[in-house]
Amino acid sequence: MVRVAVAGAGTFGRNHLRVLRELEAAGLGVALAAAVEPDSARAAEAAAQYRIPVYASIDELLAARLELHAATVAVPTVEHHAVASALLDAGLDLLVEKPFAASLAEADDLIEKAEKRGRIVQPGHLEHFNPAVLAVEPRLRYPMFFEAHRLSVFTPRSLDVDVILDLMIHDLDIVLAFAASPVREVRAVGLPVVSPKVDIANVRVEFDSGCVANFTASRVSTERVRKLRFFEPHQYVSIDYARRDLLIVRMDGKISPELAAALAAGKLDAAALTGPAPGLSFVKPEVSPGEPLRLEMESFLDSVRTRRPPRVTARQGRAALELALEIQSTMAAHACRAGLADFFARCP
Ligand SMILES: NC(=O)c1ccc[n+]([C@@H]2O[C@H](COP(=O)([O-])OP(=O)(O)OC[C@H]3O[C@@H](n4cnc5c(N)ncnc54)[C@H](O)[C@@H]3O)[C@@H](O)[C@H]2O)c1
Repeated sequence: MVRVAVAGAGTFGRNHLRVLRELEAAGLGVALAAAVEPDSARAAEAAAQYRIPVYASIDELLAARLELHAATVAVPTVEHHAVASALLDAGLDLLVEKPFAASLAEADDLIEKAEKRGRIVQPGHLEHFNPAVLAVEPRLRYPMFFEAHRLSVFTPRSLDVDVILDLMIHDLDIVLAFAASPVREVRAVGLPVVSPKVDIANVRVEFDSGCVANFTASRVSTERVRKLRFFEPHQYVSIDYARRDLLIVRMDGKISPELAAALAAGKLDAAALTGPAPGLSFVKPEVSPGEPLRLEMESFLDSVRTRRPPRVTARQGRAALELALEIQSTMAAHACRAGLADFFARCP
């Protein structure tokens, strides 16, 4: 029985609480043992709903000397390091929400602490557990061009970070894993729109392999989009993270110029397709159903029990953060060149 505490019972921490309780109720060898939440209204709500002790601080949780094996960290990103550090020092295995930390120095410190203490630390990059991503992994060939779109309607949450660390980091992490090549060059533009931080950004990353990835992320959109499309020689793959589905288009022969243009514009998706076209085969691989957060938690708990490295390692969390931070400084340099420094960047 793995006894788990949740740090942070805010918007996303509530999902951690729910999923852990669901796993407990399903008899999967886990017990939701406690939570930490400084906001008294949220703390009272979590205590009443889950019938667990909810403490106002990590110090109070640790002082209670409960039997605990692991914790999940769903506090604001700027607090990840302080909270995760204290829990690691207390000997717990951790699932730390994305982005792994607010700086590389903090990420390195957590990795070093975890290694020294032999603790599991898994960053919460839950798209790795999206059933569509799980289904595409064994079919990956040689992706050379990615197009990622992650758009959200504005809500006043996660404003301690910009849209890169809030949303785009999910796609950075997946593309880093799929491209499997060091980053050669980053170009980026981003603007604050509603919040004081960058709310919308477009980024182009080129890898040593020659692979290129375009990322667009917005938290001030009128619609919610979660899509990753990529092209491989003679193959096009479209992942819809929100629908958790996957479409593969294979070019088996000659295709018409009209179809080639539609493919190049990324306009083919499962909903738009009515049937196979000459030269193309459309494959909609079976995608097992499942909530990514639940699959992520199950995987984390499996690592806690077996001591096998987590499916998503702390170093992967660090790599995604490193690319995100490089994008931020490239965006700031662009803002300076464009005369936008007064709005959000500091120029040399
Ligand atoms: N994986 C995902 O898809 C996903 C989605 C949303 C948020 N997140 C991540 O989850 C984290 C939390 O985001 P959110 O939207 O829930 O934020 P939130 O502000 O709604 O909730 C954070 C909660 O943490 C509490 N808190 C602050 N300091 C604390 C401390 N020292 N100890 C314990 N609790 C503390 C706050 O009172 C608040 O209730 C962020 O890192 C965010 O990036 C991940």
